[in-house]
Amino acid sequence: MSEMKLIKSSERVRTLGEVFTPRRIVELMLDQPEITAKINDLSATFLEPSAGEGAFLVEILRRKMDVALHRSHSVQEYGDNALIALSSLYGIEFMEDNVEMLVMNMNEQFLRSYYQGLHQLQSEEEVSHLTDENVLKSAKTLIQANMAQGNALTQLNSDGKPIMFSEWKLLGKQHGYQYVQRLEYTFTAIIEHAQEPVPETPYEEVSLFAPPAEKKSSVTREYTPCRLVDVYKTQSQNL
Ligand SMILES: C[S@@+](CC[C@H](N)C(=O)[O-])C[C@H]1O[C@@H](n2cnc3c(N)ncnc32)[C@H](O)[C@@H]1O
Repeated sequence: MSEMKLIKSSERVRTLGEVFTPRRIVELMLDQPEITAKINDLSATFLEPSAGEGAFLVEILRRKMDVALHRSHSVQEYGDNALIALSSLYGIEFMEDNVEMLVMNMNEQFLRSYYQGLHQLQSEEEVSHLTDENVLKSAKTLIQANMAQGNALTQLNSDGKPIMFSEWKLLGKQHGYQYVQRLEYTFTAIIEHAQEPVPETPYEEVSLFAPPAEKKSSVTREYTPCRLVDVYKTQSQNL
C-alpha cells in the first residue's frame, strides 16, 4: 500500500479516533510469532473491526500471498491458494471514504502480489497469458463481500441494516480445482457463536465462524457450491 497520511483531520481524530497506524508499527506487530503462525495458515481468519484504509489487512494479505506462492506448484494452484488467503480476511469500517480506500488498497495489493507470483512461477511466459481472469473477478467479489461498511459496535451499516459477512467454506478439490460454499451470516450471529469458548490465552484464536453444529441455524443465505475461482458468479445468484 502506498504511504498514507496518518491523520485526515483533527475533527475526525476527535470524533472517530481516526489515526492510522504507521507501516513500521504494523510490521512490528505482525512479526509477533503468534501472528506469523496464523498468517502461515492460509485459511486462518482475521477480522479488523476498525479497519481504516487497511494498514493491517493489506500487509496481512501481502504476507499471506507470499505463503500462498510458496505452497503452489502450478499457476492454477496458485490462483486457488491466493483466493483462499484473500477469503480469510475481513474488515469493518464506519466511514464510507475509508471503506472505498480499503477496498481499493486490498484490490491493488492482491493484483500486485498475484502478478509478482506469476512471474516467479513461470518467468519464461508472459504474465498476461498466465493470468486467470476468473481469479481476478473472484478476488473482487471476495473483497467486496469481506470489507463491510458499518458500525462494529451496533453491528449495523449506514442503512440501518445488519452487517453481513460470508464464510467461504472450503469443500476440498475436484479435478485440481478448490471447491467452496458461500454461507452468509449477520455479524451479530457470528459474534454470538464466536463468544464460546473463551480463549485461555490472549493469543488463542477464536475462529470467526463457529463449528457447523452450532451455526447451521444462523445461516442467512446458502449459495450453491462452486469452484473457488468462480465465486464471482455468486454475486448474481438469485436465491
Ligand atoms: C485508530 S483508526 C485505525 C485504523 C486502522 N486499523 C489502522 O490501524 O490504520 C480507527 C478507525 O476506526 C473507525 N471507526 C471508529 N469507530 C468505529 C466503529 N464503531 N465501527 C467501525 N469503525 C469505526 C474510524 O473511522 C477509523 O478509521
